[in-house]
Amino acid sequence: MDPASSSGSGSSSKSWIVYGLAAGAAIAAAAGAFSFRGSSKFRTRVIGIIPARFASSRFQGKPLVQILGKPMIQRTWERAKLASTLDHVVVATDDEKIAECCRGFGADVIMTSESCRNGTERCNEALQKLEKKYDIVVNIQGDEPLIEPEIIDGVVKALQGAPDAVFSTAVTSLKPEDSMDPNRVKCVVDNRGYAIYFSRGLIPYNKSGKVNPNFPYLLHLGIQSYDSKFLKIYPELTPTPLQLEEDLEQLKVLENGYKMKVIKVNHDAHGVDTQEDVEKIEALMRERNIS
Ligand SMILES: *[C@@H]1O[C@H](CO)[C@@H](O)[C@H](O)[C@H]1NC(C)=O
Ligand SMILES: *[C@@H]1O[C@H](CO)[C@@H](O)[C@H](O)[C@H]1NC(C)=O
Repeated sequence: MDPASSSGSGSSSKSWIVYGLAAGAAIAAAAGAFSFRGSSKFRTRVIGIIPARFASSRFQGKPLVQILGKPMIQRTWERAKLASTLDHVVVATDDEKIAECCRGFGADVIMTSESCRNGTERCNEALQKLEKKYDIVVNIQGDEPLIEPEIIDGVVKALQGAPDAVFSTAVTSLKPEDSMDPNRVKCVVDNRGYAIYFSRGLIPYNKSGKVNPNFPYLLHLGIQSYDSKFLKIYPELTPTPLQLEEDLEQLKVLENGYKMKVIKVNHDAHGVDTQEDVEKIEALMRERNIS
């Protein structure tokens, strides 16, 4: 074996890293060059779905919480509308108050049942209820009001450029202080940017038993996109051992042998899970002059 190819570092392992707009264009070019079955267009019809429920164990009515004077769900929706790859953006909810609020600022709303156990199931139900057909569904978490449209476009283009993958998602650099936090999910990828594994523990594990300050650890971000045919079967797949042990839904995808494309982006995660998070994000927005 060529020692150079086994090193894993160098240009090949960097080729899947994308940054913002310029990188989006690079992915689009790569997708075009791939030329799937003689056609340069693949998985062209794309919908962004923002699943939102009112009842949350930790934060009742979370999607409607005001962030600098606007409901959080509206902020997420406005960001999603700026993504150039989305043909359509809808909010999927089981709650009339959320639906009314969203229609008020101009969003299309799909009512879904209260029995949806999570965002993935809600996206799937919404997809079935839509009249038009879509090839890709982007699951946009409603609690990331500062999600960059470029990240949404990045995961879409990644899935369009990787016909062998059924799923795409994004990672960013893990902050050293988050290394041991089980709520921060870590990810390792191969040198073409396909996911190898996700864990709540620190991966890879350095044999010194310490965090290696020189290793570029990756933090998984919540955004994900699916091939719509895959989304139909995803909720039906039987839970798998690693998924159950780590309590990470996405492991089911890998354990069943499906491929998942991962892009690396620059993003400070500002997920809103508590009232304190709202105050933090508002302070940050004031600081950065985001209105
Ligand atoms: C582990 O981390 C140290 C730095 O803390 C680094 O020098 C070393 O290369 C890493 N890997 C192994 C196998 O020790
Ligand atoms: C969440 O959704 C996935 C995929 O649809 C499903 O397989 C899983 O069982 C769900 N998790 C829970 C806790 O309901």
